[in-house]
Amino acid sequence: MRNILLPLFFSALSISGFAQQKPVIYDESQVPSYELPDVLTCNDGTKVTNKRMWEKKRRPEVMEMFQGQMFGRTPKDKIKVDCTLLQEKKDAVYGKATIQQIQMRFSNGSKTHDALLMLVIPNNRPHKKVPVIFCYNFKGNHNTTHDPSILMPYSYDIIPSAYGEKGERGLSARRWDYEQAMDRGYAVATMCYNDIYPDDKNELKNSVGTLFSGYNPNAELAPDSWQSIGTWAWGASRVADYLQTLPWVDKDKLVMMGHSRLGKTSLWAGAQDTRFKVVISNDSGCGGAAISRRTFGETLEIITRVFPHWFCPSFRRFANKENELPFDQHELIALIAPRAVYVASAEMDAWADQKGEFLSAYHATPVYHLYGFKGVESDQMPGLHQPIMGEKVGYHIRQGVHDVTNYDWARYMDFCDRQFYPKK
Ligand code: GCU
Repeated sequence: MRNILLPLFFSALSISGFAQQKPVIYDESQVPSYELPDVLTCNDGTKVTNKRMWEKKRRPEVMEMFQGQMFGRTPKDKIKVDCTLLQEKKDAVYGKATIQQIQMRFSNGSKTHDALLMLVIPNNRPHKKVPVIFCYNFKGNHNTTHDPSILMPYSYDIIPSAYGEKGERGLSARRWDYEQAMDRGYAVATMCYNDIYPDDKNELKNSVGTLFSGYNPNAELAPDSWQSIGTWAWGASRVADYLQTLPWVDKDKLVMMGHSRLGKTSLWAGAQDTRFKVVISNDSGCGGAAISRRTFGETLEIITRVFPHWFCPSFRRFANKENELPFDQHELIALIAPRAVYVASAEMDAWADQKGEFLSAYHATPVYHLYGFKGVESDQMPGLHQPIMGEKVGYHIRQGVHDVTNYDWARYMDFCDRQFYPKK
């Protein structure tokens, strides 16, 4: 019996691709040796020696690699957006904040798609206009606070499995340190990422992507087609459009922050949209800040198999072939230069490869040097709770697991303060 089933078992493995799976590396000594593409060497071998060459020649090349082979191209269609204030509460967060809930209605002809934006605005605004940190949430705005007036996301009915019981109101509140943000004069804008693209491989049909001219539910996706990370990044830019219309917003102080898959999104949104003056990736790992070639923790083979709808289809061809990538993640960070970028890791988050996250910040730094800014200047990782605050590149690793903590928020605002209110 056993002998009959065994060959069947192995052929099933190879059909499904399981035979390709390697054990996950959690031991630094098993990281293969690799050579990173040099961010300052152009495709024709020319070396970039100044910021003009970076901006005119190399940066577009790097951008082309990420849009053509990793995240997909962001369509250029102009989608109509109507924003309607649904509710305003002036005494939220112990009286420290005004909360506004806004419906963003995206439309193309008769097709519409709605998303729910929440703004938590400090009531005390010594500078009159305030910086805004935009950060998508995973489970609805109502999940970020115990405030009973917060509405459920529109995507609640589309993928209820993503939300669990309605009782989840406030369940992730400890990840959202609104009070600290209010005390420090930062507004926070948030929206459930599922409202833009429900996070599932079968949900393109319920995403805002259906409004775009290239959308065809019956056609196979083009190799460089955007998928969910690209769509979430596009949504972040639409939030930025709206924020820029508000009188209390300091337009030059928009921040994009994201955790984990939304940290990957944050880097891609920040690479494309220069209105984000500080870009923060919290525990973003594989496909975010972590160097793919290290194959430590999550690998491209795993991420593109388990989450096929995150990256453009052509990215999958680098599964188990990291050394054939024409780019690596330090170059994604370099696309943000000369604007500020902060990468953070957690001690117990080996899946996200903390060292790989750190090294990206380090290897992106030569681009900051072209502008005369310091970044992460040493390849030695700092100890726990010893943040590096280079002029334009920051990094920390804190105790604990894959999460967003008050410590993370505090360091992010320290870093933003240095960018926005430099000491004379
Ligand atoms: C999974 C995934 C990661 C991702 C994380 C998250 O662990 O493998 O790539 O960052 O989910 O978004 O929480």
